Amino acid sequence: MKRVLVITGGGDCPGLNAVIRAIVKRASQEKAWEVVGSIQAFNGILWEPTEIKVLDEESVAGIHYRGGTILETTNKGGPFEWPVQNPDGSWTSVDRSDEMIRKINYLGINAVINIGGDGSQQISQKLYEKGLNVIGVPKTIDNDLSATDATFGFQTAVQVATEAVDKLVTTAASHNRILILEVMGRDAGWIGLHAAVAGGADICLLPEIPYDVDKVLEKVEERFTKDRGFAIIVIAEGAKPKGGTTSQKETDEVGYANKKYGGVASALKEQLKEAGCPHDIRETVLGHLQRGGIPVAYDRVLATQYGSKAFEMVLSEEYGHMVSYRHPDIISVPLKEAISQYNTVEESNYLMKSARGIGISFGD
Ligand code: F6P
Repeated sequence: MKRVLVITGGGDCPGLNAVIRAIVKRASQEKAWEVVGSIQAFNGILWEPTEIKVLDEESVAGIHYRGGTILETTNKGGPFEWPVQNPDGSWTSVDRSDEMIRKINYLGINAVINIGGDGSQQISQKLYEKGLNVIGVPKTIDNDLSATDATFGFQTAVQVATEAVDKLVTTAASHNRILILEVMGRDAGWIGLHAAVAGGADICLLPEIPYDVDKVLEKVEERFTKDRGFAIIVIAEGAKPKGGTTSQKETDEVGYANKKYGGVASALKEQLKEAGCPHDIRETVLGHLQRGGIPVAYDRVLATQYGSKAFEMVLSEEYGHMVSYRHPDIISVPLKEAISQYNTVEESNYLMKSARGIGISFGD
């Protein structure tokens, strides 16, 4: 019997369970393969005793619409940067990759499918270079990988953000307020841009376009002097004013991301007040609501295709490659290529053009 190990690493993302289910269901068509999963990314392999579990059709039945991941996940640990506490209480990290590869071989595992974002796929590439048979599956709500047309989880995040804008509109209109919605997306403005267009926001501030507070205020005043005395601003967590830096990207002592949400929304509120904005302003930070809960149908469908393709790549031994969506096909691309390319919002993108065309201000 051959064994394939499934890993879910980094932040969770709606659709992860649909990928796992598809891998297991596709593998069950091949009698020679067994699927096992490691708990909390590679940590389940590295822990003593190991924590891996056999994934059969029964264990994945009906999980395609469940959020999160049945294998759990983590941003901490991992084979190359295992955290170790020094006697003085400070932290350092050690490379346990050789030991982990030995354990994987000892467990009779022939291939690894690593479902994860940018950081996880960097680990995939490094493990592949060390001789491990790894296949990558891209995962991020941010949709910022240019090696694929789309990542699962993004549509769900956009749906949540859009519904939030819809809700903010009615209360903003009732109180004649400026309501600011902060959304995720790291250094890419895709969630912000899509939610602003879908929700009909007046102003959309993105990491790719540094904003001028006076221009934001100008648009606000236009909204208040016309018939509608309220304004909706969508701001992406990586947005920054002209000449400014984004404040929420901090790391803890071991170097892991330790963000402070609400940074950009409350900073904008203060900037608007300082610039003389006379209106009532409130901010909402959507945070992890964008990542939790039931994946929308699109994400389940994409994730299912990714899982099925990943197992087919195991059968054809396309190691060192990552699953990718290039409309209308699901293909494979070298991991090395995939991890070096990012996809951020550009003016040439037609969604940007149409957003500007319908009067959304980007504060520039
Ligand atoms: O990359 C996905 C994402 O949700 C980003 O949009 C966000 O910046 C980050 O992860 C949040 O990470 P964490 O859950 O570790 O705070």
